[in-house]
Amino acid sequence: MKKDRTILVTGGAGFIGSNFVLQCVAAGDAVVNVDLLTYAGNAGNLAELDGNPRHVFVQADICNENAMALVLREHRPRAVVHFAAESHVDRSIASPDAFIRTNVHGTFTLLEQARRYWTGLSEGERAEFRFLHVSTDEVYGSLRPDDPSFTEETAYAPNSPYAASKAGSDHLVRAYFHTYGLPTLTTNCSNNYGPFQFPEKLIPLVILNALEGKVLPVYGDGGNVRDWLYVEDHCTAIRTVLERGRLGETYNIGGNSERANLEVVRTICHLVDEMRPDAAIGDRSRLIQFVADRPGHDRRYAIDASKIARELSWQPSMRFEDCFRQTVGWYLEQSRCVEDVRSGAYRDWIRQNYEERTAR
Ligand code: NAD
Ligand code: TYD
Repeated sequence: MKKDRTILVTGGAGFIGSNFVLQCVAAGDAVVNVDLLTYAGNAGNLAELDGNPRHVFVQADICNENAMALVLREHRPRAVVHFAAESHVDRSIASPDAFIRTNVHGTFTLLEQARRYWTGLSEGERAEFRFLHVSTDEVYGSLRPDDPSFTEETAYAPNSPYAASKAGSDHLVRAYFHTYGLPTLTTNCSNNYGPFQFPEKLIPLVILNALEGKVLPVYGDGGNVRDWLYVEDHCTAIRTVLERGRLGETYNIGGNSERANLEVVRTICHLVDEMRPDAAIGDRSRLIQFVADRPGHDRRYAIDASKIARELSWQPSMRFEDCFRQTVGWYLEQSRCVEDVRSGAYRDWIRQNYEERTAR
């Protein structure tokens, strides 16, 4: 695909989206970035692109069909890469409405406007156009310890309102390919870690709490397993699928790094003790507190990423230990900036989520 036309990214001020936008612009792509700037979006993630003509930011809601039609008409992108979503499982349990609205209705609105735009393109442009939908391994449900990892053939079995809303959006994307021929691609990835993640998610939350000597809340027995993927590897995988993926296909993306939550939290404690020793706090692992479990908490996720390796020669290039150390260092360096992100609304959420989870 030629590089001289714009990519429309939705949710490009969020965690993965901002890493993706930075990677695309560094590689020479032009990006129009559509983001509503909900509590999870932070334009500051893209501060280094200020004044860069290859990045245009548009604050808009993907549920707004007029706004989506306008941005497509004005910028004439060669591709849409769709990250925008409500993404936090605990919030989806407390208030599912926004998840159905953005993840299901928002994806539908974007698909419909993309279809209209694509229909009006020249034959050559139509052939080049791609709609890449970024989804999650959570649509496949939960694995037992000895189950094989999720493949693209694993049946959908979402367990949380978040996972169900993402599954709904995946099905809509599939239907737009089969019914209308819209050139879609879907990626289902495992848990990401790296810079710019909103500090309500496990890894940044625990790093920042450990730094400040606060409680480190571990749900249930801490034995839940996630397959951690470094965000830069994820972005490279998405760019590979965008350029070379087979139309209508889905590709699983994983990090080959299964870790139990308790192991992740203990590793953070050791790294923070090493990088920021504090005699008043002492051994950070003493801050770990087992708290009430998440309702319906999926026990294990693991991705079989052999399809993308076989077809597109992509595999994770980073070692978990190296990237994890680097990530902890990044949050410790940024801890003052992160303070701006932790607004009043963020503090209300932390109170709501953890006050009810009394220590076990
Ligand atoms: P995030 O919550 O950090 O960012 C989401 C972004 O979408 C924010 O910038 C927010 O402002 C924007 N947004 C939300 N609602 C919007 C709306 N109605 N209109 C326009 N913009 C809106 O999420 P993330 O962790 O970067 O995840 C990005 C995508 O990747 C999501 O689709 C998520 O389901 C998927 N995913 C994430 C992970 C992970 O580990 N973070 C794993 C698998 C899949
Ligand atoms: P999270 O970062 O919310 O991602 P997801 O639910 O999408 O996997 O959580 C990662 C894991 O960490 C998950 O098993 C829930 C657990 N967890 C805790 O044990 N304590 C916490 O305070 C949080 C936020 C998550």
